[in-house]
Formats: sequence, C-alpha cells, structure tokens
Amino acid sequence: MQKHSNCRTKSRRHFLKTAGIISAGLGSFNILSVNRAAHAVGSDEIKIALIGCGGRGLGSVFDRFAVGDNVKLIALADVIHETAIRAADLLRKDERTKGKLDLSENHLFGGFNAYKNAIDLADLVLIVSPPAFHPDHYLYAVEKGKHVFIEKPFGVDAEGYRRSMKANKIAEEKGLTVCGGFQRRHEKNYQEWIEQIHQGFIGDIIATRVYWNGAGAKIRGVRGDGEPEIRFQVRDWYFFNWLSGDHILEQHCHNIDVGNWIHGKGDPLTHPISCIGLGGRQARKTPFVPYNECGNLFDHHYVEYQFADGTIMHSQCRQIPGCWNSVTEKVQGTKGSGETNWLKPNDGNRWEIPKRNGRRSGYVQEHIDQTEAIRNGNKLHDGWHSATSTMTAVMGWLATYSGKEIKWDEAVEKGKTLFPYDQELTFDTPAPILPGPDGTYEHAVAIPGRYNPFE
Ligand SMILES: NC(=O)c1ccc[n+]([C@@H]2O[C@H](COP(=O)([O-])OP(=O)(O)OC[C@H]3O[C@@H](n4cnc5c(N)ncnc54)[C@H](O)[C@@H]3O)[C@@H](O)[C@H]2O)c1
Repeated sequence: MQKHSNCRTKSRRHFLKTAGIISAGLGSFNILSVNRAAHAVGSDEIKIALIGCGGRGLGSVFDRFAVGDNVKLIALADVIHETAIRAADLLRKDERTKGKLDLSENHLFGGFNAYKNAIDLADLVLIVSPPAFHPDHYLYAVEKGKHVFIEKPFGVDAEGYRRSMKANKIAEEKGLTVCGGFQRRHEKNYQEWIEQIHQGFIGDIIATRVYWNGAGAKIRGVRGDGEPEIRFQVRDWYFFNWLSGDHILEQHCHNIDVGNWIHGKGDPLTHPISCIGLGGRQARKTPFVPYNECGNLFDHHYVEYQFADGTIMHSQCRQIPGCWNSVTEKVQGTKGSGETNWLKPNDGNRWEIPKRNGRRSGYVQEHIDQTEAIRNGNKLHDGWHSATSTMTAVMGWLATYSGKEIKWDEAVEKGKTLFPYDQELTFDTPAPILPGPDGTYEHAVAIPGRYNPFE
C-alpha cells in the first residue's frame, strides 16, 4: 500500500520521465518499462469502464474501489441499456463510490456494440459480460491499447480460445496489463499451497482431482411478454451453451485452472494433451425444473485429462440437488497427498495454511495486483494461463458431449464453434438455439455418440 500511495503523488510527466531514465540505464532488461511507460495511464487517475453491469460486474467495481483512490469509473456498457442506467443509479447511491464516479448520462451505453463506446473512453476496462463475448471484447480493448480485467472464462469454444490467444499476444507486445478473473491465482493461500507442492513437499505429482459439485445456478432472466428470443437468452445466458460454454466451463474452470497450475510447475501454458469424458442431463429436465432453468446444458460432466508427463487430472462437476457436494482440489504425490490448503507427507506432519489469517479474498487481491502493476509499470499478464485453462475446459465439453477421445491439438484447430462470431448481432437476430415444438430446448442437448465435436 505504501508503494501505491507514493505512486499516486507522481505526476504523469514525472512518471514518464522516470520510466525513460530507468530504461535508458538498464538496456534490454528494461524493455518492459519502455513498453509499460508507453501504455501508462493518461494521468495519475485511472479511468475505468465496465462492460456487463450484472452481479459480478458491480462486484468487481466495488472490489476495484476497495483498492484505493485515484480510480474513476467513467463509463458503463450493457447489452440492455436500462441495466446500465439502473447500475449507475445504484452506484451513485452507494457510499463506497464517493469521489470515484464520473458517470454522465451519455456515458451509459446499451446494445451489442455498447462495449466499443465504453472502451474508447477508458484506460482500464473491466470485461464482465457473459463468457462468449469475452474474446471479442478483449481483442477490441487491447487493439485500442487498454489495460484489461476479464472475468473467466476467456470464451466458450476453440474459436474463442484462438481469439483470446491473439489478444494475449497484442497485450504482451503493447505491454498492457491483463488480469484474468481466475482469482485463486491471486490468493496468497493458494499461492503458498501450490508453492509447497512444486517444492516437492509430497514428492512428484501423480494425479489431481478437481470438483465443482453443487445444486445448480440461479436463473438470471425469466422471459418477458413478447421478448425477442435472443434478448431473453442473453439475459439468461448461463443456461445456453453458446453463451456460457456449459457449467464445466463457466464455473468448474476455476478448479481446472488450479489443476493446470499444479501440473504446470510454473509454466502458464501447460495443458492436458488429451481427455475422455462422460456426461449428461438427468435431473435438469422439465417437469423437474421449469424450462427456463434448463436451457440446453448438461447437469453433470466427468473428465479424465492426460498430461504429456503421464500425470492425470480427474475432473467432476455436477448441478443436481441432493447429491454429494464439494468445490475443492485434491492432489496425490509419490510421497503424500493433500487438499486445498493442506498437505500430508506419508511419513511427516501435516502442513496447513492457518485459518483466519486475515488475508484478502482473491476477488479484491486481483484488483490490487493489477492497479499496482499499472501504477508501477510492472508486468501482469494472466491471459496465458486463463486462455489455456479455458481451452482445457472446452476440451472437456467436447469430450462429454461427443463421448469421443479429444486431443488438444485437434480441438484447438477444429473444435466445434458455438458462438456466431462475425455476425452482427441485434435483438432481431434469430438466436442460434430456438425452442422446440414443446417449448423446451431439449432437442438442442448433445447426445454422446451422435454429437460431432469438430466443425
Ligand atoms: N470469478 C468469479 O468467481 C465469478 C463469479 C461470478 C461471475 N463471474 C463471471 O462474470 C461474468 C458475468 O457474470 P454475472 O454473474 O455478473 O452475470 P449477470 O447475468 O449478473 O450479468 C451479466 C451482465 O452482462 C450483460 N450483457 C450480456 N451480454 C452483453 C454484451 N454483449 N455486452 C455487454 N453486456 C452484456 C447482461 O445484460 C448482464 O447485465 C461471467 O463471465 C461469469 O463467469 C465470475
């Protein structure tokens, strides 16, 4: 925090001058500083735009504001204009936003292209729209030279992954900071737990088991009278795989990312080379739940991932009430085992992160880390592991939907596309999935053995 407040007192001119002097003195080592100075914020104050003004969007604004002063939210964009207007009202009434808002009415944007208007005005963009939109919102932001915070996942399919990797390269070349919304990566507890694993506390890693088993997710929108189909689906995005990538991607990607982190031993690009899986839809069906809650998602997936070094990651996610629930990661080594926050060597004492150790949640810590990186000209690029873990979960649904073995390279090259990229969307565009004659989306649920995982 000390560092942060010192920085705040610097003028932009002083900041640029200092960065220039340092870079002249340190030669190639300081390429980073040169790049970062070129893309340092336009003044000491960081101007922020929020894209997607729902639950996590507003949450991320408050998390960012908890970081300190000299940040100002200057634009909101939401596909539904009234949502942006409502969000502005709510923020204006909240004490925590005092001195940190400059939201004129003409900076509240609506529609599918609203993100462009908001991004153009900002130094830093918070992309908290539904997952399918993330790759194109990310690409646009970095092409415009903006620092980016993007919620996970980085897309819903292989094309989304390819676009996010392109954006990653642009961000790297321009020296922009990218914070990935996989908040566990920023949590000190996770960092220490995984550091111990990588140091060999339980020997070499043999396998991990990662879980997100729970009752289900909340409905985001009930269909309005005469509401266009695509407008309804975009509001209730979670339950349509072309928008969310199914819950293996939308939610379970957090645990899959922890698995990749463990297996990767510090390499953010480590990923499984292949996987097989099973899944289906047993309880998420009318008449058990109303059709709005069904969309076309599975309600359970199990995937066995194989890494190049022979290690395995077992992944389970389920959304069915009344079953065994767990959101955790477990690890098996040659000399012991462990579970999120603790490790036990076979012949030694259990090591544990102390409970109530007063650490910030990852939700706030990630915003602190990025704000400090921007102010200090440091590198922060979560895009590589974020896109890699996104594609790992995409491989998962390709395997569970199709029932086939899926190889990484093939999946990246020609994995099925869910989202209509390059189509100009409006509320008149027909939705990619339409209700069947019974009014449900049952006909659009994948059937293993018949579903083609490739284009
Ligand atoms: N890191 C975490 O633990 C965590 C937790 C919750 C949500 N999330 C992520 O945050 C994102 C948003 O989730 P949420 O819970 O806030 O959903 P939400 O439904 O509450 O909000 C999404 C908002 O985005 C708007 N929107 C839809 N399409 C848009 C577009 N094309 N352009 C601009 N706005 C658009 C919607 O109208 C809605 O207001 C998702 O990617 C989700 O995975 C992450």
